[in-house]
Amino acid sequence: MTQRQLYIGLMSGTSADAIDVALVDLQFSPKLIAQHSLPLPYKIQQQIHALSLPDENEIDRMCALDTELGQLFAQASLDLLSKAKIANHDVVAIGSHGQTIRHRPPGSIQGTFTLQIGDPNLIAELTGITTVADFRRRDMAAGGQGAPLVPAFHQAVFKSQKHDRVILNIGGMANITWLPAEGKTSGFDTGPGNVLMDNWVQTHLNKSYDANGDWASTGSVNPELLNLLLSDAFFSLPAPKSTGRENFNRTWLDNHLHILPSQPAAVDVQATLLELTATSIATSINQLSPAKKEIFVCGGGAYNTRLMQRLANLLTNSTVMSTSALGVDPQWIEAMAFAWLAQQTMHRKSGNLRAVTGANREVILGGVYYA
Ligand SMILES: Nc1ncnc2c1ncn2[C@@H]1O[C@H](COP(=O)(O)OP(=O)(O)O)[C@@H](O)[C@H]1O
Ligand SMILES: [Mg+2]
Repeated sequence: MTQRQLYIGLMSGTSADAIDVALVDLQFSPKLIAQHSLPLPYKIQQQIHALSLPDENEIDRMCALDTELGQLFAQASLDLLSKAKIANHDVVAIGSHGQTIRHRPPGSIQGTFTLQIGDPNLIAELTGITTVADFRRRDMAAGGQGAPLVPAFHQAVFKSQKHDRVILNIGGMANITWLPAEGKTSGFDTGPGNVLMDNWVQTHLNKSYDANGDWASTGSVNPELLNLLLSDAFFSLPAPKSTGRENFNRTWLDNHLHILPSQPAAVDVQATLLELTATSIATSINQLSPAKKEIFVCGGGAYNTRLMQRLANLLTNSTVMSTSALGVDPQWIEAMAFAWLAQQTMHRKSGNLRAVTGANREVILGGVYYA
């Protein structure tokens, strides 16, 4: 029997909803062996959100959370292994994205840096598995945005010689990977994914997200608000570009709402936020090429039926499907990507794409914490 190459990918994105863990066999084309999701406790979510914007006593709060998240990432990995009945010594390495608490891409007035926490020393120590972490900062050191990093994985797995494809990841933020049948892969962040919708539905319905976009479907888009939101400079920036909660957050929304002469109903704001996500994504995709494209959606937004409908309506020239049409469940793609990126690092191969992040060279990403 040939030897499996088992890697674990750990992902907790800007939504800060859960730690997604994927056990992947990377011997040939990446194959998902087992998966697990550990919801983040409410208190931890609040601490993450609080640290995403400048405030008091950040070092103590950040370092305490770094430790707690490191323990949770280790726990999530161990839970997965026991579920899959796999021993830790059968896993080559863990790739841990970490939790982003601040992302300041080149050009930010506050400086150029990106910070993902969840101590990899603890992950390696508690799991007994070599852990690769801190993927983004090396790309930034090479002049890149540090994001998005999933396109190299999308290219390795989803590139077709026949069809022009887009892989659209709708997490807290949204990013696209452009895989033309002939030509170079590119990709960038398009703006907010679920983050503004999640926050609004939490305030008004006390739910963590608007399941299927059901609430948004009962509202009407407010065109004045939509146009105001779309006038944000990020949407017209050329690629490479990346963004986060530093840009698109509740204060950003409130500042725009205050400009309006009268306040729309809460449900209409929700409908408008969904339309903002759909329109900003569709505009970015339509600019890639006029030809018919296959669009495959992953991330939690793929489960938002209303959002998927709106995307299909705005992208009439293309087909919009979930990545399950390609045999990969949309929830696990990002975690699988970090398993793959860990293998790249362990094999001393680069993980960033210059055409995506804008880095001046392709580099081996991450730091390695040996078991
Ligand atoms: N059934 C659903 N209906 C609508 N939205 C959903 C559904 N399931 C997940 N989501 C959205 O997906 C988000 C999580 O997506 P995820 O890909 O994990 O993002 P991140 O990478 O930022 O953590 C949730 O916060 C929610 O907004
Ligand atoms: Mg998530």
